[in-house]
Amino acid sequence: MDVYKITGGKRLQGSIKVSGAKNSAVALIPASILADSPVTIEGLPKISDVLTLQALIEDIGGSVTLDGETMVIDPTEIISMPLPNGNVKKLRASYYFMGAMLGRFKHAAIGLPGGCHLGPRPIDQHIKGFEALGAKVTNEHGAIYLRAEELRGAKIYLDVASVGATINIMLAAVLATGQTTIENAAKEPEIVDVATLLSNMGAKIKGAGTSIIRIEGVEKLHGTRHTIIPDRIEAGTFMIMAAAAGDGVTIDNVIPFHVEALTAKLREMGVEVIERDEQIFIPKAKELNSVDVKTLVYPGFPTDLQQPFTVLLSQAKGTSVITDTVYSARFKQIDELGRMSAKARVEGSSAILSGPTQLEAAVVRASDLRAGAALVIAGLIADGETEVREIQHIERGYGSLIEKLHGLGADIRKETIPADTIIKGS
Ligand code: EPU
Repeated sequence: MDVYKITGGKRLQGSIKVSGAKNSAVALIPASILADSPVTIEGLPKISDVLTLQALIEDIGGSVTLDGETMVIDPTEIISMPLPNGNVKKLRASYYFMGAMLGRFKHAAIGLPGGCHLGPRPIDQHIKGFEALGAKVTNEHGAIYLRAEELRGAKIYLDVASVGATINIMLAAVLATGQTTIENAAKEPEIVDVATLLSNMGAKIKGAGTSIIRIEGVEKLHGTRHTIIPDRIEAGTFMIMAAAAGDGVTIDNVIPFHVEALTAKLREMGVEVIERDEQIFIPKAKELNSVDVKTLVYPGFPTDLQQPFTVLLSQAKGTSVITDTVYSARFKQIDELGRMSAKARVEGSSAILSGPTQLEAAVVRASDLRAGAALVIAGLIADGETEVREIQHIERGYGSLIEKLHGLGADIRKETIPADTIIKGS
């Protein structure tokens, strides 16, 4: 089993570059199957989710070449093959094959998606959208079957502003007949990125990035070339890392507007955040103040940064409360931080942290992607050598992490240890 070993206490300094957005990439790749000629996507992050999606496209007959950060997807030979198991179970975003396959073939069979365990993650709003467009949707033995005679544009009001449902409905609606309106649509930058790709493929989409998206169906879509937006969650993770362990860190390839909610909270804590065009500089932080935080849909404070942020709160003077209104049970990092001597507890949908506390190295488990990012930051500031296990979760979403952190002077390495090594006290 692979683990990260991190010797804490090295102050980080220098520049770190953000990769293309994971949560865009995982939608752009399935979206490309709607085209009738090759689609080139540039700036992809080097993460295992991208490789899983490549395998899924190949499973259904598409041809894919991946050269560094550039993927060329030729969807011409794709057939509507059922995808009940296998690679679909490895990530949440496999649900985008529902919208894309339904859009292209008017029928699809896709296994219920995997992904991080963050508490309940229903897909009822996706299904409501597909049904409104004219599909019959059934759940048979853990796979979703979608069938439509014809897809017709419709007015769809989302009960929750879901990122996945908004994108999935766009994917199904771009080749439908007539106009589709998505109301209470999610506004995340990744949605704008997917709409940009689809528009460059010939789709007619207005309002992406606002709560009302209008789509006028077209008959066919063609190939194009698209460059992905920077990953605002990776950028935010590096900003938190810089505030916790930095002696002056520049974060490159970031759109400062995309991380404004985090910037505001960091400033409230006493961290200086200097914004440049596509760069953020965080000088060495002085004393950190406690703050209260509530996660919200974009442009609010992102749930995906809640877990890394709890590590910073453990370093702030006083008591902080962080509440996750998007995923109320997304706090598996808190027990692990407890093993590292953080004063932290979970109450309902909040974590309460008191500090500042000198974290102590321990053997800890990454239960999910962002919990893993939190534990890496914790390891960087802890006293001694921390071992982070189950790093496959981290590598689903953070590409070349070790190399990137070495660029800042961090002492982190990947090691293979025997699979049956027991964690003391567990
Ligand atoms: N929800 C429903 N019904 C639905 C869909 C969602 O009730 O049909 C609820 C969810 O339970 C949740 C809220 O709506 O409480 C928001 O969920 P959303 O659908 O927006 O999440 P998602 O599309 O499944 C994406 C990201 C997540 C990120 C969330 C929120 C991808 C592949 N995943 O998930 O990213 O946390 O949006 O911003 O885009 C991560 O990167 O670590 C990650 C988990």
